[in-house]
Amino acid sequence: MADLKIFTGNANRPLAEGVCRYLGVTLGTAMVGTFKNGETRVKIEEHVRGADVFVIQPTSNPSDHHIIELLIMIDALKRASAARITAVIPYYAYAKQEKKASGREPISAKLMANLIVTAGANRVMTIDLHAPAIQGFFDIPVDHLTAIPILAGELDETDLNNIVVVSPDSGGVSRADEFRHRIGAGLAIIAKHRPEPDVAEVLEMVGDVEGKVAVIVDDMISTGGTLAEAAEVLLHRGASRVMAYAVHPVLADDAPALIRNSKLERVVVTNTILVPPHCRDPKIEIRDIAWLIGEAIRRTHEGSSISALFQATHLRQELLV
Ligand code: R5P
Repeated sequence: MADLKIFTGNANRPLAEGVCRYLGVTLGTAMVGTFKNGETRVKIEEHVRGADVFVIQPTSNPSDHHIIELLIMIDALKRASAARITAVIPYYAYAKQEKKASGREPISAKLMANLIVTAGANRVMTIDLHAPAIQGFFDIPVDHLTAIPILAGELDETDLNNIVVVSPDSGGVSRADEFRHRIGAGLAIIAKHRPEPDVAEVLEMVGDVEGKVAVIVDDMISTGGTLAEAAEVLLHRGASRVMAYAVHPVLADDAPALIRNSKLERVVVTNTILVPPHCRDPKIEIRDIAWLIGEAIRRTHEGSSISALFQATHLRQELLV
């Protein structure tokens, strides 16, 4: 079997280190920096000829820079004769630009897919794409993992009852429904619109939240506006408490402050994206999903099925029995 090698750029080194700890391998040595003119400079510093290589790089803010790091690393690995290169992209940027919402707009999510394939990736592994159909933008295999069962499993453990799961927009209904199904709760749906980019306004809500603990489920927190607005509406409609579970902590702009000052009781996210110290807040709890990526890498490397990772309802221990 080919050697398993894992490399990372600068987007989320702690996550890559966590994956390596899980797998019991050493993180591959690579210099990923910048030239004085600002261009990205990469040198793979160990041999990869014939190896099964995984490059872990969420394309988080600054997305363009992290995407270029990923592309150039893949190019370097391809030219160094790696046998297979898997781009492990725990957070896939530009995913909200997956269709033309109006004339003369790009489909940036497709362009990103083209770039990743052109660079030389043979496979892609990602987590909770904003729009699952983005998988079809690639003509190479895509393993689309999900952290929703893990987040739902955690809620189960806190012994809360009387929960209603809330999708904060129509696009997130199937995600919220998956979460709801895991814990056997009801579902409410908020209709949201964006009067301008990055501004969320609640239009209407369907479902009964009166006297219930409202659990908002979303794929990402960007400005935090969607969650803050939803929390106001839910409490206004009679919810007793509001909390949120989201996979990707994009935390753009003043999102941490907005969340801190919001009616949300707690917000649980994963570490697909590195949350820098200035964005940390006691209200924002971060859950480690390095093991999920590690297990998916192990199974991909060994050529075994990863479907168990989608079936796993709760925790790592349960998954591995
Ligand atoms: C919908 O567009 C997404 O699923 C999220 O709800 C959205 O990205 C959150 O953005 P923000 O935090 O800026 O409202």
